[in-house]
Amino acid sequence: MNILVTGGAGYIGSHTCLVLLKEGHNVIVVDNLSNSSLESLKRVKKLTGKELAFYELDLLNLESLERVFIENEIDSVIHFAGLKAVGESVSIPLHYYHNNLTGTFNLCSLMNKHGVKNIVFSSSATVYGDPEIVPITESASLSATNPYGRTKLMLEEILQDLYVADNSLNIAILRYFNPIGAHESGEIGEDPNGIPNNLVPYVAQVAVGKREQVGVFGDDYDTPDGTGVRDYIHVMDLAGGHLKALEKLNSKPGVVIYNLGTGKGYSVLDVIKAFSKAAGKDIPYSIGPRRPGDIANCYAEPSFAEKELGWKAVKNIDDMCVDSWRWQSQNPNGFS
Ligand code: NAD
Ligand code: UD1
Repeated sequence: MNILVTGGAGYIGSHTCLVLLKEGHNVIVVDNLSNSSLESLKRVKKLTGKELAFYELDLLNLESLERVFIENEIDSVIHFAGLKAVGESVSIPLHYYHNNLTGTFNLCSLMNKHGVKNIVFSSSATVYGDPEIVPITESASLSATNPYGRTKLMLEEILQDLYVADNSLNIAILRYFNPIGAHESGEIGEDPNGIPNNLVPYVAQVAVGKREQVGVFGDDYDTPDGTGVRDYIHVMDLAGGHLKALEKLNSKPGVVIYNLGTGKGYSVLDVIKAFSKAAGKDIPYSIGPRRPGDIANCYAEPSFAEKELGWKAVKNIDDMCVDSWRWQSQNPNGFS
């Protein structure tokens, strides 16, 4: 199949492109490189020994984006492109709404114009807000607490509206839990700009000596050790979930929604311990105040994806930390 991957140069996108190429698909990437570098795709090509098409362009530029639909016969779209930093979204909400919403509108309007029916959309566990019950099922109530989360929630609803208007569409909404890890080669991985917001990239930078210590955001949550509990999922397992979702779309299911997580929760201290083991060194940390907006517990009930897609995450927290560490230690400065 010919798959258009928006945001394919980014963290999850690059790992998914690798999996798609290995499966024998043709991959066409669109990315404006606002949060990524072309080096990731060069390495994907090296690792797979395969070529892919790359368009450096912004989804906000409808005319340039249409060129991609004119020049390629596209079967399905995987839509990763979007801005994802929660704190930044609070400071510059209009930018987030414009980028994430308008970009998706442009993409969907061109899919409509060019008869492309299948789309996999990157959503997030953030749409569950502060969950009343864990593990979280797909039918749990939804809410957003910041502009980033609201873009995901709005886009989930908008995609469902598009399906009501056109029943020939097939839409898979994938709610990722906390993606970490890297390809086992250590050649591609997560390369955040500036100070990492997320736990594992921060821990990795402490382990490699770029930062002094990890600040643990609160140890007074209602969790076994008082620190926040999350469902960390290996990015290669996540990439595999996209392949399964694409297969599912070929059976013309309409709109389908899946949690992609492991179903297991690990605390901040569990992660620091697992990373220490992987890196073979102590990782200094200190307990600080809670981060505003954080929740105590968030982990998936992943059995619906297993039942419907035949997909299950197989890598454990040690695999995730070993692979994150391999990437970080081989590439202390990321792709640059
Ligand atoms: P990423 O920032 O590494 O990748 C996103 C890519 O989209 C980047 O390469 C960026 O340059 C590109 N992009 C952004 N706006 C664009 C635009 N207007 N036009 C063209 N390209 C554009 O992020 P990621 O971690 O790979 O996340 C991929 C998707 O998954 C995002 O939609 C994100 O919100 C979602 N998601 C990520 C996580 C996570 O923890 N990483 C969790 C849940 C959901
Ligand atoms: C973050 C995003 C969320 C997104 C998710 C998956 C925020 C507020 N939320 O969630 O929208 O869907 O990533 O990518 O950014 N922690 C520390 N010290 C740190 C960093 C984090 O103790 O330096 C703790 C946090 O309090 C949390 C856990 O580690 O308990 C995981 O944090 P993080 O990696 O940022 O992910 P989430 O908060 O789950």
